Amino acid sequence: MKRAIIVARSQNNVIGNGPDIPWKIKGEQIIFKRITEGGTLIMGRKTFQSIGRPLPGRTTIIISRNQSYTQKGCFVCDTLEAAFELADHEQKPVFVAGGGEIYKLALPLVDTVHISTIQAEISGDILFQSFPTDDFTLVEEQFFESNINYIYQRYERS
Ligand SMILES: NC(=O)c1ccc[n+]([C@@H]2O[C@H](COP(=O)([O-])OP(=O)(O)OC[C@H]3O[C@@H](n4cnc5c(N)ncnc54)[C@H](OP(=O)(O)O)[C@@H]3O)[C@@H](O)[C@H]2O)c1
Repeated sequence: MKRAIIVARSQNNVIGNGPDIPWKIKGEQIIFKRITEGGTLIMGRKTFQSIGRPLPGRTTIIISRNQSYTQKGCFVCDTLEAAFELADHEQKPVFVAGGGEIYKLALPLVDTVHISTIQAEISGDILFQSFPTDDFTLVEEQFFESNINYIYQRYERS
């Protein structure tokens, strides 16, 4: 199955501040919903805790080193590789949905990156790495006007 990252970052690469995403942008989450609906989400335990529940219409796999960690309605794996293997059995598109630690592990392993860039500098302590790298090619781009404008881009591995 194809593997993707889906992420929203500020212009200065911030994706989070403590447990939170430090912006509220009207419409931006619709992109996340439209792209991931019907798929499998893989996320770190901290990201899951900040969302607080499995998102409807999607399979959720949480990554934690704690082998006794459980969450109702979710699968838990102790490595990203195990999560990808489990996701492949689900036969649905696979999306790595954060946070910072898990994006770092996943970037070398994905084919596609869905990235929204918020047109502002925002302070926060969780970062996405400098992107794009030479390994990826831009294949789709869309501009959105909102309370803060943002650009959605899709990159495929070259
Ligand atoms: N802007 C966006 O698009 C976006 C999307 C998602 C999240 N976020 C933000 O990102 C932040 C959270 O990111 P984060 O980096 O702090 O945490 P995270 O990546 O969500 O989760 C980290 C946790 O994942 C588990 N983990 C990490 N590496 C592992 C490995 N190699 N093997 C097994 N388990 C591993 C550990 O769980 P245990 O401690 O249980 O072992 C670790 O504490 C929040 O601010 C959130 O709002 C932003």
